[in-house]
Formats: sequence, structure tokens, C-alpha cells
Amino acid sequence: MTLSDPLRLPCGVELPNRLVRAAMTESIADRHGDASPRHERLYAAAAAGGPGLVITGNVMVDRAHLERARNVVVDRWTDDAALRRWADAAAGVPTIVQLSHPGRQTTRYVNPHPVAPSAGPAVALGGAYARSRALEVPEIEELRRRFVAVAVRVVGAGFVGVEIHAAHGYLLSSFLDPATNRRTDAYGGSLRDRARLLCGIVTDTRAALPDGAVVAVKLDSRDDAELVALGGWLADAGADLLEVSGGNYERPAMVGLDASGAELAGEHESPFWNSAAALSAAVDVPVVLTGGFRSRTEVDRALAAGVCAAVGVGRPLAVRPELAGRFVRGEVDTLDRPAPRLGGPAAVRALLGAAVGAGWHRVQLARASRGRGPALRLPALAAGLDYSVGDWVRSLVERPARLRRAGGAEGATTGPAARAPTRPARGSRRAR
Ligand SMILES: Cc1cc2nc3c(=O)[nH]c(=O)nc-3n(C[C@H](O)[C@H](O)[C@H](O)COP(=O)(O)O)c2cc1C
Repeated sequence: MTLSDPLRLPCGVELPNRLVRAAMTESIADRHGDASPRHERLYAAAAAGGPGLVITGNVMVDRAHLERARNVVVDRWTDDAALRRWADAAAGVPTIVQLSHPGRQTTRYVNPHPVAPSAGPAVALGGAYARSRALEVPEIEELRRRFVAVAVRVVGAGFVGVEIHAAHGYLLSSFLDPATNRRTDAYGGSLRDRARLLCGIVTDTRAALPDGAVVAVKLDSRDDAELVALGGWLADAGADLLEVSGGNYERPAMVGLDASGAELAGEHESPFWNSAAALSAAVDVPVVLTGGFRSRTEVDRALAAGVCAAVGVGRPLAVRPELAGRFVRGEVDTLDRPAPRLGGPAAVRALLGAAVGAGWHRVQLARASRGRGPALRLPALAAGLDYSVGDWVRSLVERPARLRRAGGAEGATTGPAARAPTRPARGSRRAR
């Protein structure tokens, strides 16, 4: 098996090659949380780059619970025409929308009232996060319905499918993790119970979508026996693709860093190699391994050894989307990664390591969405501050408009009020 071989998914969709452009949060929605012309430009370029599959940045299922400012939100107030224009622009390559709820990993400036499986300590990063409260069972059931409803909406708009984000410490990942899920009801305890929400979402999404739609799931690398059991249940629930990544905000392994902000070292470019190999050996569903791949040799080795059926690549394609096709065709042997490193005291690196790891590339995505070339000289610290402090400022300024769209303040879309329809606010839409 090689990178340029097509990959047929269980739902029947055929990927033209085995390079997956990984999800990268864009934060370029308009202030109501709708997709904007900037998404159309960015994803037309991603598709033109020639990967076999494109996964969008995380799209939120609840406007009261964003991961960061200017996330796209899909709910009853969403502009479907904007979603359709986005899907049309991306149509050159199969494109799936990643659906997510951030859970406890949202700063207090984005959301002062985060939710989690269990009430718990705030994310320990510089006091920027608030303590979370535990979701009530009716809220969990409502969330299950929301993920499914959003999947139906985006596929209806023309996307090829969805990826359910159950990695990186966000809400569905935190249900799976006994450190953040200490519930004693049907949603906590054994792995089966911790996985109940995720498996339920996948089962219902598969049932609600047309036969040819893709249902993928992004998972964390974890104890192999647990990952294999989970993968088996997700396959039974109808998943078409299982993506393996890992880490969370406090331990950002997904961008190759440990808790102190130092680079992870290992035998392979991807820190999640062994987990993907264990999962691939145990389930029939194709596995995508994402994180760290930069060289042709390592990609070829992973595919030839059956460690994964496809490889996911993020950061290099944020800078140069055209590298995807060139790498697949064998015109280049490396995916360079021109991101600067953060220097300075260890405490600063631990605090801002993840923000720099993603922030520098987030700025490149934002530039590309405006039709600009990459800013290769962008300093690491400036990118880290934009990703953190810049996001907090944007959030504080824009949250009222986003929530006003839902007819109310905090809590309008989660909790009992979510089930009592409120009238959308009329008027002021930003011109496109
Ligand atoms: C700017 C940026 C934004 C990201 N946003 C998301 C996201 O929305 N959803 C997700 O699952 N992973 C996200 N990631 C993680 C990537 O999907 C991927 O797992 C990670 O970058 C490792 O792959 P790479 O080494 O090829 O970059 C993001 C990474 C970056 C750099």
C-alpha cells in the first residue's frame, strides 16, 4: 500500500489518495458564527492542494460553548446558504466537517461557564480557565441529539460527511478519560459507560445520514487495550474512519510537545505510531495516523507496515497546501515545517508552548483565507500571544453578538432553556 493508492471507505466514498489534510481550527467565522467567504477561499486552496481527504477545523455544536472566538457554529440560527457555499468551494476533494464541543478546554474569556462530565478543576494554564460544572443527564442526551442534528445539516449542505472530535481533551475525549469523568451513573465508570455518549452519537449519526456519507472519529492514543475495545465498538456503531492523535491542552502531544513545552522525542516521527498500529491490527475500519509526519520514508514505512491506512498532516499544509499533491506524487520527499520555536524561561514555554504550537499556523491559515501568502518570519511569541490573549479579546468583544443571535445570554443554548424555543434576533448581519 502506498500514499498514492486510493482508499475506499466502508460507506463507499473513495479517497483518491491516502494523505489526509488534518483538522485545523481557523477562527474566521463572522461574528454570528456563520461560515464566511474566508472559509471558501481557504478550503478551495486546501482542495486544490491535492490531498485525498480534507477535514475542516472544529465546528461547534453549541454557540454558548466555543473552543475559541470565531468558530463556526451550527444550530438553528445558522445560515445554511453560507454552509452550502463553503461545501461547494471545498468540493474538489472529499471534505468532512469536524464536529466538536470544547467541554472544559475553553478559556474563561471565551466561556466563563464551561461544562464537563464531572465538576472539576480548571485547566491548569495561567489561570485563564474556569472551573467546569458537571453536565446533567438530560443535557448529555440533548448533546447527543445536537451532534446528530449538526451532522445532518452539514451533509445536507453538501459536505461528504463528518468527523466526531473525541480527542485532545475536548468534551467527548474527557468523557472517555477517567481523570476527567468521575461520574457514577450510566455515563461514567467502566470504559463501556465512559464511551456511551460517543458510541451513541456515532450510532445515531450513521442512522441519520444517507448511506454514502462518511462518519469518522478522532481519538486519543491511550492504553492499547482500551483503544482497541473502543475502536471495535465504534466500528460496530458504523464508523468509516478512525483517526488517532493524542494529548490535551496541559500535555500538547498533538503538536509534538510535552507538558513542559519541550519537543517529544521517539523512535518514530509520530508519537502515536504504536497506538495506531495496535488499532489497525484489531479493527477492519481504516485508521488514519496524524501527528508529526514529515518525511516520505516514514510515511511509506507506516503504510507498508499497515500501521495505518492513511496519514494525516496538519501544520505543513497550513503553510503550503500545494505540498499535499506534490508529496503524494513524489515530487518532494519532505514536508518542511518552518515554525519557529519559543525560547525564554521554562515557565513561559510550558504556559505558551501549545499556543505557539498551534498559533503560528493559525495565523498562516488566517492569512491564506484572505488570499495572502504565509508570513514565515512571524515571531513565535507574537503568534502565541495572538492565539491566547488575542483570542480572549476577540471573544469578549464578540460573545454578546453571537449569543444575541440565539435570543439570549449565557445558558440560552444549554440547559433547560435550550429546549424552550427562543426567537432569533432579527437584523444586523454583517455584509458578506
Ligand atoms: C492551527 C492548528 C489548529 C488545530 N485545530 C484542530 C482542530 O480544530 N481539531 C483537531 O482535531 N485538531 C486540531 N489541530 C491538530 C491537528 O489536527 C493535528 O492533529 C496536529 O497539527 C498534528 O499534526 P501535524 O504534526 O501534521 O501538524 C490543530 C493544529 C493546529 C496547528
